[in-house]
Amino acid sequence: MEDKKLQNKLKKRPIGVFDSGIGGLTVAKSLFDILPNEDIIYLGDSARLPYGTKSKETIILYSIECLKFLLKKNVKFIVVACNTASANALPFLQKITKVPVIGVITPGAEAAVKKSKSERIGVIATMSTVQTESYKKEIHKKNKGSKVFSNSCSLFVQLAEDGWTDNKIAELVAKEYLNEFTKLNIDTLILGCTHYPILKNTIQKVIGKKILLIDSGEETAKQAKIILTQKNLLNTQKKAGEHKFFVTDFQHKFKDVSERFLGRKLSKVQKIKLN
Ligand code: DGL
Repeated sequence: MEDKKLQNKLKKRPIGVFDSGIGGLTVAKSLFDILPNEDIIYLGDSARLPYGTKSKETIILYSIECLKFLLKKNVKFIVVACNTASANALPFLQKITKVPVIGVITPGAEAAVKKSKSERIGVIATMSTVQTESYKKEIHKKNKGSKVFSNSCSLFVQLAEDGWTDNKIAELVAKEYLNEFTKLNIDTLILGCTHYPILKNTIQKVIGKKILLIDSGEETAKQAKIILTQKNLLNTQKKAGEHKFFVTDFQHKFKDVSERFLGRKLSKVQKIKLN
């Protein structure tokens, strides 16, 4: 009886999500859609964006600070929405807490292995994520035979934030980055960075309609639902979940950019200091 009461209390706690900035709102969007009754707390470490060009040590340090902030909010489950943080810091974060923590790499990699027929998979991500070879390692855990080809597409982050997603510049940049992939006979391409789904149309146009794009954020939201169900942690409230947003800086054009990433109006945003 006592156990059941405790579990019911636990179920009502929010889910914590963090990213290096507002890019992770693409992941939050998928979580809102797939888990509409969950209360969600989002933290964007926008003051220290980008993580993708920083060293492993720094990324781990920043990620631990984000995690600690969410733990103080009494979350029941944590999603590391940032690919770079997932690639560099996930095992360290999982060691610190008993609260389940998942990243975006494994769900993206698993979905790609499941869907690729040719076993030739492309990965685009930040420089740091590519360097860790995390996607490659996760893909090989599921299928040793898969051939994995990776490239970092740093400029996509700025293009997505500036809203230059469907114009000639975006197309030119995409051609430059993706040209190599068109010669490699891949049939699946993982969008291994929070910002890249914003450029999905241009990426698909340049890479060709036949190539399946995997949105790691979307796959992570599906995985989150599976884990919460298995752990009996799903919030059973009937009303829509409450969403709260925290950032470490209000960057230029914050509202416009965030609402474009999230695909809806943003409310209840607070600026906070970490550590
Ligand atoms: N959120 C990062 C990622 O998904 C992209 C932006 C950054 O470099 O911080 O890898």
